[in-house]
This record gives sequence, structure tokens and C-alpha cells, in this order.
Amino acid sequence: MPPRLASSSLALLLVLTALAAHSQQAGSAPLAPAERAVVRSPDGQIVVMLEAADGRPAYTVYYRGAELLGRSRLGLRFAQRAGLDEGFVLGEVTHRTERGEWEQPWGERRLVSFAFAEITARFVSERNDDRHFAVRVRAYDDGIGLRYLVGPQAVGPSARVTDELTEFRVPGDATAWWIEAGLPNRQEYLYRTTPVSEVTRAHTPITMRTSDGVHLSIHEAALVDYAGMYLKQVRDGQFEAELFPWHDGTKVHVEGPFKSPWRTIQIAPDAPSLIDSDLILNLNEPNKLGDVGAWVKPGKYIGIWWAMHIRDRTWGRDGIHGATTQEAMRYIDFAAKHGFDGVLIEGWNLGWDGDWYHNGDVFSFTEPYPDFDIEAITRYGHERGVRLIGHHETSGNVSNYEAQLEAAFALYAKLGVRQVKTGYVADAGDIKRLDMQGIARYEWHNGQFMARHHLRVLESAARHRISINSHEPIRDTGLRRTYPNWLAREGARGQEYNAWGIPPNPPEHTAILPWTRMLSGPMDFTPGIFELRPNEQPPVDPSMPRPDTRSRIETTLAKQLALYVVLYSPIQMAADLPEHYEARPDAFQFIEDVPTDWEQSITLAGAVGDYIATARRQRGGEDWFIGALTDEHARSLSLSLDFLKDGARYTAQIYRDGADAHWEHNPTSLAVESREIRRGDVLRLPLAAGGGAAVRLRYDGR
Ligand code: NOJ
Ligand code: CA
Repeated sequence: MPPRLASSSLALLLVLTALAAHSQQAGSAPLAPAERAVVRSPDGQIVVMLEAADGRPAYTVYYRGAELLGRSRLGLRFAQRAGLDEGFVLGEVTHRTERGEWEQPWGERRLVSFAFAEITARFVSERNDDRHFAVRVRAYDDGIGLRYLVGPQAVGPSARVTDELTEFRVPGDATAWWIEAGLPNRQEYLYRTTPVSEVTRAHTPITMRTSDGVHLSIHEAALVDYAGMYLKQVRDGQFEAELFPWHDGTKVHVEGPFKSPWRTIQIAPDAPSLIDSDLILNLNEPNKLGDVGAWVKPGKYIGIWWAMHIRDRTWGRDGIHGATTQEAMRYIDFAAKHGFDGVLIEGWNLGWDGDWYHNGDVFSFTEPYPDFDIEAITRYGHERGVRLIGHHETSGNVSNYEAQLEAAFALYAKLGVRQVKTGYVADAGDIKRLDMQGIARYEWHNGQFMARHHLRVLESAARHRISINSHEPIRDTGLRRTYPNWLAREGARGQEYNAWGIPPNPPEHTAILPWTRMLSGPMDFTPGIFELRPNEQPPVDPSMPRPDTRSRIETTLAKQLALYVVLYSPIQMAADLPEHYEARPDAFQFIEDVPTDWEQSITLAGAVGDYIATARRQRGGEDWFIGALTDEHARSLSLSLDFLKDGARYTAQIYRDGADAHWEHNPTSLAVESREIRRGDVLRLPLAAGGGAAVRLRYDGR
């Protein structure tokens, strides 16, 4: 039998088994064909069934012949319009399949392949009106995407969405990794590991492991002009989509026909393969900016930044101002000497003095402080091949920022700045804008208002050939594919929490991120702290005490190096002070060597919250880099190197925890060693408690 026939009959069998399982569970006779639509992934392992169950649109997901997500509702409700929720029958269903490959201008891998089967199912009103809408489902081998397509009959020229009814009925006995949503505003929390039943309201991606080891993660893709989604558990295992509202409670404003973002479920048989999924990117629209190679540049940077977080310096002039011309030149010299592309400088512009957290109204994005000679600094950098990285902290005042947007980017463009870090530090509901009457309105970081704002920033930046790294961002849904100048975001608890100590990130934090936050896209975590107990150092100025003398970075030095490979970002910061790097040239060598743009990436091993090992091959090169890290438990990993080129020689430059290393008792004990390696060899990496390892596999030819 030809293989294609074999696999399609297997798939058919699976569908039938799945349908039988479904009708048994529902306790009814098998459904007549016209009452359901089925789509299965190219490998036949994932099956999605759409139906109108008693008039209510619903879907069910099967994985490897068993039900994974129970029958879950679909639908939307509107203000002053009939809802798309009940009284519908399944109408016309169209099928489509596609496979192919596309190239990323930068990324974890250069070539992204895709293969999906898609159905677009029309739900038609049973009542005597002509309302209908469609649900499109795409099944890939690594998960599904599902979105609403709503036409003019249902919404007229404009409408307000008041509720999205999408449900996710997950296995009630799964374990979940999640952060709470909907209270204060940002996503900067420690992840919780609990039975699914204990999840209340969760940000996405939320990741789960079922009792038989299937890993799944729920999120969304292509959030363009819509509200971000979070999940609320209403009954055991039954989650409902909630949308972050506008200040007046409206969820989404739509103008005529619209498409919702994709609701995504990534599905994998084990933990490592959940990470090596391109589902979110594949569900986004292709690049709209054309060839950006000349101005969108991955790279490494340093910055006048950590000094403020550990209170050596201040953003404003009411302490020891960090952003001075002299300090900028010192950083530029260090960057030039060690091959960094950029120097980020925060606190350079008017507005930081006093309580900058609440200075959103007064920030100027075009006026530098008098002790920051921006022209001289950028000229000095230019002569040394180093660019200033711009910084726009809004403190959440979006109106003040938008009013200056064009002028702000024009100034930076004129000075040769190619990358700007933005910031939206604000507390609950604190993204501020002024309405026509000048009344302040407060909006959510993940609402439609901010979805629109971020696109406005990206488009304005693109006109000036500038790329963006947003902090306190809207969540990532893969828009970097469409707008490749959106290089990175924060959107989780980053290194900065290790300076403030409220409390710092525990050792397991970076062993959870790859399976949660990182599934959505690159993160500007800012790794590379070498002085792991900064708060135990005497303060530079006694009137500026350290943030919290009890808190320190809860990793070993080797683990800080591992983060460069494990936590993907096309721009990576070497976050510590130049003098701390000068004190450890042995470890710093790895930061100098590690690239930030990759040909290929593979998760070699891992368990959510416990440990991970990641391998990446340099873009356009043959060197591989490995990062491995563990939680608070020491362990030893044996990694088989079967991804190396056959017959080639490599030198493994290994940066690992010393035999006596321990994040708490001896964090800076590091061993650096070299040896010859070939394909088929096993690399043993001992990881200390809270430790890690970083490896460069230098290609030595055949
Ligand atoms: C919060 C950002 O995450 C951090 O990196 C930045 O230094 C401060 N805001 C000030 O903008
Ligand atoms: Ca932050």
C-alpha cells in the first residue's frame, strides 16, 4: 500500500474512534454527517470536530485517538445586537490544506515549515433572519488555531463585542503552570504550579501536563485590533475566554466584518517538543515590511541600566545621575572593545526627576538632560561602531507619548539610533489617555486600546527604520512575523526583580519560562549578571541604600551564561556593569562569543519547572551553542550530540558549575574546559543547585 493511503486510512480510523468516543460520552447516537465538521492534522494525531450542539456552536479536540478537550462552546455576544451564541445550525463547510516553508529575517530558526488542514464552517441562524458567521479551524501537527470570521449581516457597520464565549474544557487532573490575570495589570509574576482545579484567572500562555504526559498550552495568535484574552475557570477543568476591556467595559470595538485573533492550543507528546513548535508564528500574517535586513538587526547590547536598579545611579538628577555624557562614553568604549552593537541609556530625557513612576505626563522624548550631550555621544559611538539604543519610558501615559511619537523617532533616526526600548510602567488599569474633553481614562495593558497603540508605535518606528523592544508590553502573539521590527518584549518577571528583591526570581523561574512566556515569543530578560550579590555591596552613596540587602540573584554564574541560549531573544543584553565583566574574563568570553540569531534550534531535554537543555546553531555558521539549566536541585544531564555534522570535528568550550558550586553557598564557582567532540558523542553536564552550563561547539571542519 502506498504510504499516503496508509496514513490517511489510519487518520480516518482515528476520526471514527474519536467520534465514537464523543457520542458515547455525550450518551447519544452518532451524529449525522451534516451536523458536524471534522478536520485532522496532517499526521492524523490531532482531530477537531465542530458542531452545533442544541443550536450552540461547539468544538471538541482529540489527540492520538482520545478526547483531549471536551466539547467546548463557541460564540460571541454584542451590545444591542443578537448574539452569535445560540440558535445556529452548521451550514456549508469548506476544506483546505497547505504546506510549505518561509524564511524569517531573524529568529530561532531561519526556515519555518508548516503543514495544516483547515476547515471554515459556517454557522447559520435557525431563526428567520439571515445571520451567519464562520469558525475557521486549522490543525497542524503541533496544535490547532481557531478563529471567528464575522460578516456584515451579524455586526452591521460597527458593533461592540461584550463577551466571547469560547471555552476550553481541559482534563481536570492536569498540572498547570500559570500566572494570575486580571488583578494588577502586568504579567510580571512568579509562576504557580498547581492542579488545574486551582487555577482561577490565568494569563496565557497557560501550560498544562495531563496525567499521561501530554503537554498543552493555550494562548492566542495575531492579536491585531482586538482585546487580549485571559482564561477564567468556571467549573472544574472548564475555562472561559475573558477579554481585557476598555475603560468603559466594552471588550472590542469592531467596524464592520472582522476576524478575531486565533485561539491556539499547542499540543505535544512531551515537554521538549512543546517548545519546538512554530504554531503561533505560522498563524500570523507574513512580513508586511518587506526586506528589513538593512535596518532590523539582531545583536547584543550593554547599558546604563543595572546601575539604576541596584541604586548605584539614578534615572533622574535627584541622586547620582546615570545618563551623563562621560558615563555614556565609558560604556561605548567598553562596547567597542568587546564587540557589542549597542548601548542602552535610560534616564537621558527630561521627566525623570522626582517620582518618575508617576511622571507620565511630563516626559519629553526629544529633550535630553543638559548633562547628556546626545549629539556628542552618538558621534562618539558612530566613530567606534557602536549605536545608542534609545529609551522611551511612558510611565503609562500613552497620550503624552503618542503626541510626541513622530518627533521622538525622527530625532533618534537622525542620530543613527536603530533600536528603541519602550516602557509602560504603570499599576492596575493605569495606561492613561485623555479623551476629547481632556478627561483621563485608564486602560489595560492587554486591551484593544493598547493593541492599537503598539501597532501605531511599530508603524511609526518602521517609517524611521527603527526596531522596538517593549517593556510592560501587550502580550506577544507572534506579530514579529508581520512586523519584524518588533524585536523583543518583556512581559514576564525579568532579571530586574533580582535587584529589587520582592522576592527575587527563585531558581525554578527560568525553568518555567521556556514553557510559558517564551512560547509566545522572544523575551528581553536581560541575562548576564556576574556580581550575584549586588545588594551586599556597600552603597555608592549612603543616602541611596541598596534595594533589599537580603535579596540576591538565585543562580550560579554558569546559569547566567546558560540563559543566553535558553531564553531566546534576537537582542540580548549583557546586563551587568562593565567592571563586573572585567573581573571575570573567563566567564565573559562566552557572552562575547554567543550569537543572537540562529539557523536552527532544538530543545534537547527538559521537564517543566525542573530543567532544560537547548541547542542552537548560529545563523549562517556551523557553530552550535548549548544552554542547560536547572531549578534548585542539582542534577547531571547526558546530552547526545546527534545533531552535529557527520564526520566533522568540533571543540566543545564548556562553561560549567564548579564541583562546589551552589546558587546560595558558592554561586561564582565556575569551571571552563575544552575538549574535542563529534557527532554521536554524549556530553555530560553537571548542574549545581540553581546552576547551569553553557557550551560553544566550535566547528573545526572535517
Ligand atoms: C521597567 C523596565 O522593565 C526596566 O527595564 C526599566 O529600566 C524601567 N522600567 C524604567 O524604564
Ligand atoms: Ca518591567
